[in-house]
Amino acid sequence: MIRKILKWVAIVVASVFVGIQFVPKSVTNAAVDESRTINARLRVTPEVNAILARSCNDCHTQQTRFPWYSLVAPVSWMLADHIREGRDHLNFSDWASYDAEEQDMLLQNICRITRRGAMPMPSYLYIHGDARLSQEDVKTLCDWTQAERGRLERK
Ligand code: HEC
Repeated sequence: MIRKILKWVAIVVASVFVGIQFVPKSVTNAAVDESRTINARLRVTPEVNAILARSCNDCHTQQTRFPWYSLVAPVSWMLADHIREGRDHLNFSDWASYDAEEQDMLLQNICRITRRGAMPMPSYLYIHGDARLSQEDVKTLCDWTQAERGRLERK
């Protein structure tokens, strides 16, 4: 009896798992106009570029890397929300869409948020341990944001 119930539970769970794979993932990468990226608009040093690429770009650009597990529901749904929301708040691929005031605010927030340890998102670090920022990384980011905010002000 118990074996029969367990068998049916397993069949239902497996069917649901297979079934949800057909619910489309709603976030994809979009073409990037290189002239609109943060690299085209600000002076992004190689050090800063490396930190952003390692720890931020998956959620804050239109060029997210999608490893296999990120394509499997329900993980894909969770990631889709994070990526959509992350791009919504800050998109390095379309930096040209921000006016001077927004750029200043975003640069300031990059420093503030990483200093607090709030970015990258903790759930991301769980899988991407190498994305964790060292104090040195945070200092590199903050020195850079400060320099770029100064340059924006003088423009
Ligand atoms: C797993 C996805 C993910 C990663 C990786 C990630 N972020 Fe975010 N980020 C988000 C989401 C989602 C939000 C919006 C919700 C929130 O503020 O928590 C956000 C918001 C932000 C904001 C606030 C933007 C505003 O509205 O002012 C900043 C700044 C930021 N992230 C910087 C970074 C930096 C810098 C890194 C890399 C060190 C990073 N993030 C890595 C998902 C991510």
